[in-house]
Amino acid sequence: MVIETKQEKIPSYSVIDAIIYKHNIQPGAVIPILQEIQEEYGYVPGAALVRIASSLNIAVSEIYGIVTFYSQFRLQPAGKFLIKVCHGTACHLNGAERVASVLAQVTGAKEGETSSDNIFTVERVACLGCCSLAPCLSVNDEVHGRLSSEDVGKVLDQYQESPKAAAIE
Ligand code: FES
Repeated sequence: MVIETKQEKIPSYSVIDAIIYKHNIQPGAVIPILQEIQEEYGYVPGAALVRIASSLNIAVSEIYGIVTFYSQFRLQPAGKFLIKVCHGTACHLNGAERVASVLAQVTGAKEGETSSDNIFTVERVACLGCCSLAPCLSVNDEVHGRLSSEDVGKVLDQYQESPKAAAIE
């Protein structure tokens, strides 16, 4: 199995400015701008907060408030593997809390956190769009479904033992 890991990009003002200008420097476009910046870097760098604030003439504290209010945004780089735990209705009814609990035990990271070795970042999501596989989670967008408690550890082992993951360290 080929496992793609995310590599961290260095924040660049030219890239950040291009995203801001693409949205016509409109204060109402703060959320799409932040989403695009996070898409680019995997998180919202502090430099982007300052740049957006000065370009849109909004206080940095206001941008910070938006980023910390919405759980979709991260202010720190994610780990090598981004795990999204589904808590939609089907997954909730089929054991999403159990999956999240086992995941926290195995990785040491609760939802919204990154493991201390920076390997796994765990996020809570509303639906992964594959409800027939409930309960499920995704790792870097690869879905794993019908998970028993034992399966959670086995899924993570696949990634920790990935040669590609080791090569990037
Ligand atoms: S509810 Fe979990 S994938 Fe839809």
